[in-house]
Amino acid sequence: MGNMNDEIKKRRTFAIISHPDAGKTTLTEKFLLYGGAINLAGTVKGRKATKHAVSDWMEIEKKRGISVTSSVLQFNYDGFCINILDTPGHQDFSEDTYRTLMAADSAVMVIDGSKGVEAQTIKLFKVCVMRHIPIFTFINKFDREARDPFELMDEIEDILGISTCPINWPIGSGKNFKGVYNRQTQKIETFKANMAGQKAVEEKDYSLDDPELEETIGITNFSHLHDDLELLDGAGAEFDQAKVSAGELTPVFFGSALTNFGVQTFLEHFLQMTTSPLPRKAGEKMVDPFEDNFSAFVFKIQANMNPAHRDRVAFMRIVSGKFTAGMEVNHVQGGRKMRLTQPQQMMADERKNVEEAYAGDIIGIFDPGVFSIGDTLSEKDASLQFEGIPTFAPEHFARVRQIDTMKRKQFVKGITQIAQEGAIQIFREVNAGMEEIIVGAVGTLQFDVLIFRLKSEYNVEVGLDQLPYEYIRWIENPEEIDVENIEGTSDMKTIHDMKDRPLLLFAHEWSVGMVLDRNKGLKLSEFGRNT
Ligand code: G4P
Repeated sequence: MGNMNDEIKKRRTFAIISHPDAGKTTLTEKFLLYGGAINLAGTVKGRKATKHAVSDWMEIEKKRGISVTSSVLQFNYDGFCINILDTPGHQDFSEDTYRTLMAADSAVMVIDGSKGVEAQTIKLFKVCVMRHIPIFTFINKFDREARDPFELMDEIEDILGISTCPINWPIGSGKNFKGVYNRQTQKIETFKANMAGQKAVEEKDYSLDDPELEETIGITNFSHLHDDLELLDGAGAEFDQAKVSAGELTPVFFGSALTNFGVQTFLEHFLQMTTSPLPRKAGEKMVDPFEDNFSAFVFKIQANMNPAHRDRVAFMRIVSGKFTAGMEVNHVQGGRKMRLTQPQQMMADERKNVEEAYAGDIIGIFDPGVFSIGDTLSEKDASLQFEGIPTFAPEHFARVRQIDTMKRKQFVKGITQIAQEGAIQIFREVNAGMEEIIVGAVGTLQFDVLIFRLKSEYNVEVGLDQLPYEYIRWIENPEEIDVENIEGTSDMKTIHDMKDRPLLLFAHEWSVGMVLDRNKGLKLSEFGRNT
C-alpha cells in the first residue's frame, strides 16, 4: 500500500440509488467488469441463481430468497479505488437503505428511460439532498423504447427539483437507437450492443459534420439531432462543477447498462466529476480525511451473520486517516478503548479480512453488542463525536401484541436490541393509562424479520396489528409549543419515541399541511435528528 494521502485521494465512495428494476444491479455489474473485479457479468449479489449458494445469513433470507442486508463492493479502475454502496430495494427496502446514503460521498441515480422518476428514487433522492452531496444521473434502457429525453429531463427538474445538464444526448431509442452525442467532445458514439465483453466495443466516433454520419444514423435522426442540440444549447443548464459538487446540478448521461453502451463513458466522466472522501462535521470541528488520526462512524449494524451466536457486525465509514487491523481506538460513546480485530471488507458476496483501509473505505468490525448506529471511533481524540445519523421516517406502523405476557422481560430486551441495530423503530403510546408499544418500519419486511427474530432468538411470540398511519413527523420545537394541545386532524395520533421526543402520526399526507396551518409556529420534520 502506498502513502496515506495518495491512497485517500484516489478513493471514490458512492451509492447507487434507483427504483427496483431500473437497472442498478446491471450497471453495478458492468462497473465491476471494467474494474476487472469479476470476469463475467451476472455474479453480483442478488442474482437469482447464485443467491442461495452464497448467502448464509438469516434463515428468513434463505427461505424467501431475498437479501435483507446491503453490501459494499470495492474495486480499482483507472487509478481510482472505488467503493460502491448498494442500497437494497424491493421489499427489503429498509432504514438501512437510507443510512447507507449517510456513508456515501456522492450518489448515482439510475432511471429507467421508459418510466422516468419513480417513487423509490424520490425517497432516496431526498436524503441525498439533505446531505448536499453530488448526484449523477444515468438514464438507462435506451436500447428499448424510451420516453422523449426532454420530457425526462423536465421530470427530473420538476419532481426532484434539481437542475440537469446532459453530458451526452441520445439519438433515437429502442429499435431506432443509434447512439449518443457527446456534448463535450462533440462526437457521436454509435450504438452497438456488447453484452459480456470486457471493454466497450470499438466505437467509431463521428463529428457532427462528418458526411458519413447522416448515412449512418439516417436522415430523420440526423435532422432530429440537429434540432435537439439547438434546443439544448438554448435551454439546458451549463455544466458547472461547483454546482455539481454542491448537489444543485446533476450531470445526465444516457445509455444502456444491459448492452454495455455508454457505461464506460459514464464511469470515466463520473470519476472525474465526483469527489474524493469529504470532510465530516464533528461538533464545531470539520474532520479532514487526510488528518493523521483514524476516525470512523458506525452507519449500519448487521445481526446474526453467524446463526450459531448472537453476534453482530458493525459497518463503519472511515472518515479520516488510516486503519490497521488490530489497532486500538476509542469508542467514544462507550467511553472506553477497544481493539479493532477481525476487520472485514465486502467483495461482491465474499467477506475478506482487511489489514489496512483508508478514509473513504467501509469496514465491518465484529461487534460484541457495544455499538449503536452513529457511534464514533477515534484513534487519538477520545472526545471526537460525529454528527448523529438521523432517524428516518418509517412508513408502516403496527401495534405489538405480546402473546405470552409472562415473558415481558425477554420481550423488552429483544425488541430493544433489535431496535438498537436499527431494523425497526419503537414508539410509545399511552392509551387509557396503559403503555403500548408501536413499531415503525420503512419496509414491511422488517415486521416479518421482527416477529421471526423475537421468536428464534428471544423465544418470545408476538403478533402485530398494522395501523393505518403512513406519515410520521418529528416535532422539531416541542419546547416552543403546547404539545398536548395541538389542534389535530381526525387521522392524527401523538406518540413518543424512545428518547421521549413527541411525534405525530398521520394516515394522510394532506393532514400534515392542515396541522401546520392550524398550529402556527409548529415545526415538523421527516428526519429525527440525533445529536
Ligand atoms: P435493479 O437492480 O435496479 O432492480 O435492476 P436490474 O439490474 O436487476 O435490472 C432489472 C431488469 O432490467 C433486468 O431484467 C435487466 O436485465 C433489465 N435491464 C437492465 N438494464 C437494461 C438495459 O439497459 N436495457 C434493457 N433492455 N434491459 C435492462 P430481468 O429480465 O428482470 O432480469 P434478468 O432475468 O435479466 O436478470
